[in-house]
Amino acid sequence: MTTSSSAAAGGPADDCGAVELAAGVHWIGALDPGLRTFDLILRTANGTTYNSYLVRGDDGVAVIDTVKAELAHDFFARLEGVARYDEIRVIVLNHLEPDHTGALPELMRRAPRAQLYISKRATAMLKALLKPRDDDRPLTYQTVGTGDEVSLGGRTLRFLHTPFLHWPDTQCTWLVEEGVLFSGDVFGCHHCDARLFNDACGDFRFAFDYYYAHIMRPFKRYVVEALKLIEPLPIKLIAPTHGPILRDRPRRYVTRYRELSTPSLAERLDQGERSLIIFYMSAYGSTARMAEAIRTGAEEEGGIRVSLYDLEGGETQPFVDLIESADALALGSPTINGDAAKPIWDLLSSLTVIDLGGKLGAAFGSYGWSGEAVRMIEDRLRGLKLRVPVAGLRIKLIPTDEELEECRAFGRALAGTLVRGGRGRVVEFAELQSATIENLGV
Ligand code: FEO
Repeated sequence: MTTSSSAAAGGPADDCGAVELAAGVHWIGALDPGLRTFDLILRTANGTTYNSYLVRGDDGVAVIDTVKAELAHDFFARLEGVARYDEIRVIVLNHLEPDHTGALPELMRRAPRAQLYISKRATAMLKALLKPRDDDRPLTYQTVGTGDEVSLGGRTLRFLHTPFLHWPDTQCTWLVEEGVLFSGDVFGCHHCDARLFNDACGDFRFAFDYYYAHIMRPFKRYVVEALKLIEPLPIKLIAPTHGPILRDRPRRYVTRYRELSTPSLAERLDQGERSLIIFYMSAYGSTARMAEAIRTGAEEEGGIRVSLYDLEGGETQPFVDLIESADALALGSPTINGDAAKPIWDLLSSLTVIDLGGKLGAAFGSYGWSGEAVRMIEDRLRGLKLRVPVAGLRIKLIPTDEELEECRAFGRALAGTLVRGGRGRVVEFAELQSATIENLGV
């Protein structure tokens, strides 16, 4: 048995030993220092970890999450250092993405007494992920929600329903007696350091914020809901599924999630004031004149803060931050070779990291002979789940005075919908599984 009681430099990567977090609580995960790209979109300069944990009670052992299939050997080696398979009574899956369930089928074969505990929303995913062999035992599992508990004898695992962080299935598990929060991907990051603990690792603050920005940020509203469950807990240690284990001042990381999830622009706006951001590209000034007229019209409506930006003069990322806080977005582009200008698409393709549900969208632009850009932008806005309440405005070449009045009317209509119409209802992903248009009321 190779059990470390603390993570010294070099750490568990060298000996495949389990690492003790608290009495009878061990890290049995795997290190993946060579990984450079995760899930096609996330970069990591020093790899990641897949953190799995083992909790021992008087009446049995629980395993919380596993590792990706390619690193199952390390996981089983560490597990075997601190428990026998016939002692495992409980397997908790806080999240079913394959980086945490790759070793699950083999673990279930080796631990025939173990019962699976998953969230209700994980049920369909579990069946889709597990492809049983003919000789596997029938798949059985227990679904759990907030407040449900399982006792290991002197050790209590209590579940917290925290969906969409970052999949519908996600939950957290609270080890009551030790004050340990097994948080799944929440509070995690792609940062591989064999010293494991946050007070022993190198500086990973950038990795923590980067992970939040790409994984949790699109689900901010769910982060806020989860924090309502997490913040009251007397947390001594946070054990996420990726990156350092947070034993030194763990509440700092909860606070950081609160900061990152709190809207900023809304605090600066007057009571009830709504915000519209207009972006444009303009080759000869016509679409720019349209944008200015639309701003004038929107401001005539009152109760709205309008910002106007030429995309040619800005970086994409700060604009993404602005859009996240705004209530409406209008995009103007000329048509160039049958398409909108590339910076428009660059901006739109960057919006997948934020929650756009309930925002309004609009498109406009000057064109020479074909004018496809406005319709194409509108389609993309709808694809991103923005509501497009005012038909796109196209003007051929240089706008006349009458056409500029049309632009002002376009701005007034958009602003009027924003000020008087409120935000559209956001349809939850889970609702779509059994919904029709009629019963969604949209
Ligand atoms: Fe680490 Fe969402 O899997």
